[in-house]
Amino acid sequence: EKDKGLIRDSWESLGKNKVPHGIVMFTRLFELDPALLTLFSYSTNCGVAPECLSSPQFLEHVTKVMLVIDAAVSHLDDLHSLEDFLSNLGRKHQAVGVKTHHNTQTSKMTMRLTVVGESLLYMLQSSLGPAYTTPLRQAWLNMYSIVVSAMTRGWAK
Ligand code: HEM
Repeated sequence: EKDKGLIRDSWESLGKNKVPHGIVMFTRLFELDPALLTLFSYSTNCGVAPECLSSPQFLEHVTKVMLVIDAAVSHLDDLHSLEDFLSNLGRKHQAVGVKTHHNTQTSKMTMRLTVVGESLLYMLQSSLGPAYTTPLRQAWLNMYSIVVSAMTRGWAK
């Protein structure tokens, strides 16, 4: 319950500015793992990460990701109601990751989502400043890991 309060309070202002915060998150993501850029079929329309992140298709995906986070935050009391949505989303991302070596595919996508999680924490830290505390970090990690588990169930099927 305390976790939920920490998440809701911190998301209140961030959630109002999804795109700029999403850009901070994805800038960090492509810094941590530039190869992720190539998983977006439309990455051929741009060169380097900063340029890609200002292109409409990338901005759209950034917005989609932020909307999923927003949905998770507003369903903290019943995250399981997002199960079908998230497992379908996982299945779609399995297809995105197909380019990787097939028998390591699942662990690769899981690793990728871990890097996404790190980028999410980075974004929270840089926008919350001193309000980014250890319990807050842990609360977000817990929620994110529930989201990732639900997505993972989509490609286990
Ligand atoms: C769709 C890539 C992580 C949410 C897509 C698409 C690609 C993609 C290529 C299809 C094209 C598009 O709609 O832009 C990736 C990669 C990721 C990643 C490479 C990480 C390494 C995430 C995460 C979330 C997310 C963490 C949310 C928690 C979505 C949504 C869609 C989407 C909502 C639209 C699905 C639909 O069309 O029904 N992603 N994605 N993505 N992604 Fe991601």
